[in-house]
Amino acid sequence: MIAAQTAPAATHGEMGTNMQVEVTVNGQAHVLEVADNTLLVELLRENLGLTGTHVGCDTSQCGACTVHMDGRSVKACTVLAAQAQGAEVVTIEGIGSADALHPMQEAFRDCHALQCGFCTPGMIMSAIDLVSRNPGIDNAGVRAGLEGNICRCTGY
Ligand code: FES
Ligand code: FES
Repeated sequence: MIAAQTAPAATHGEMGTNMQVEVTVNGQAHVLEVADNTLLVELLRENLGLTGTHVGCDTSQCGACTVHMDGRSVKACTVLAAQAQGAEVVTIEGIGSADALHPMQEAFRDCHALQCGFCTPGMIMSAIDLVSRNPGIDNAGVRAGLEGNICRCTGY
């Protein structure tokens, strides 16, 4: 099913020309009217209300905005909504639920791998991609692979 939506354009920077983006998010197809300078993270949070994807910086450094696009983790603040045209995007809301956590969410919970939780969605999305591409990865590999995700409240 395709959900058509004409929502107010996101507010990143100067208002651009509106454009239509067709994107599948968490298995749901959407046709969205957005400004051409809309970021993917803005589309997710402001147009679709998927606020589990966080914005923790304006320098593309923190990784709080990490989602999967066509099976790879990306920082959604560094991707234009236009670049997601035709893509399959998965956010933290799409990998599990409170009743059925994703194994990575269970692992974070079991290992107390969070404090305030702000960075956690991005950490989990990055970690899923990292582990799926590196079976048997060791601790050093995990640390290196998550360098793009910053925890600001020392929940490391
Ligand atoms: Fe995207 Fe910080 S909000 S890297
Ligand atoms: Fe608080 Fe990481 S758990 S910012």
